[in-house]
Amino acid sequence: MIKKGIILAGGKGTRMSPLTKAVNKQLLPIYDKPLIFYPLSILMLAGIKDILIIVNKGQLNQYKKIIPNGNNLGIKISYLEQTKPRGLPDAFVIGEKFIGKENVAMILGDNFFYGQSLTKQLKENTKLKKGARVVLHKVQKPESFGVAKVDKKNKILSIKEKPKKYLSDLAITGLYFFDNKVINYAKKLKPSKRNEVEIVDLLNFYKKKRQLSADIIGRGGAWLDTGSIEDFYKTSAFVSAIENRQGFKIACIEEIALNNSWIDKSHIKKSIIFYGNCNYSSYLKKLLNGKK
Ligand code: DAU
Repeated sequence: MIKKGIILAGGKGTRMSPLTKAVNKQLLPIYDKPLIFYPLSILMLAGIKDILIIVNKGQLNQYKKIIPNGNNLGIKISYLEQTKPRGLPDAFVIGEKFIGKENVAMILGDNFFYGQSLTKQLKENTKLKKGARVVLHKVQKPESFGVAKVDKKNKILSIKEKPKKYLSDLAITGLYFFDNKVINYAKKLKPSKRNEVEIVDLLNFYKKKRQLSADIIGRGGAWLDTGSIEDFYKTSAFVSAIENRQGFKIACIEEIALNNSWIDKSHIKKSIIFYGNCNYSSYLKKLLNGKK
């Protein structure tokens, strides 16, 4: 079982400037909560309780104000800084000590997932013992993402970062599962032309050893990207539509912790005081009364 997870939540955020001049992108709102709640909720749904959040140098205090240490969620949250955006695999070099001798999951701080049976699928992926696994989802514009071509048995045939020439319409989402070798492979990587170490190069280490597998989120699931301000609005509209229709919140991290029996109602009471008088707290109050 993978018990450790990393959220990579740094990056320059230049595409979202001036919004990201003072505030990190992952702290901007997706509808009624900060973006970081969504990837955090995914790791929690996967049953992962030991989480490292990697943030930009100088932005630690911003994060700690909203997610101090995980006590309120019955989990352990630690932070490390990335001095500059050296690329996604840098997370495994920064997180070497945190990972120790275990296997690890990683989610990018700007990724949004939603769908029926998602929790079951996530838990299945945490059973990975050897190799690496990527999560794929069909998209209309594959050229904007890492892309994978798979055979009929979902075995990965080739992968490419933002291919100009059509390869496949299956995007490699920002959710990955790795064995412990990832640390050594990440250290071996050389920066690409854009002066970053590339996740595709890291995945290729595994592919060459025939140890790269794929899990596909089908059309009943949603993977949304929050790379641009347009995406922020579209994802917010999606969350708003679902939440207001059902009355359930997406990515209410306290609710997930409670459902996982990691906390009890006394923690929820503390969270209500922490957040203050707001719509999010009203939802937490409903959890206390058992009527969600
Ligand atoms: O979202 C999925 C895509 O994410 C994948 O399909 C691509 O294969 C993968 O390369 C990545 O592409 P992006 O173009 O979205 O990567 P970006 O540089 O925007 O970084 C994604 C997130 O990771 C963003 O929230 C910032 C953070 N980040 C990025 C880098 C390069 C860091 O915290 N540190 C970094 O060094």
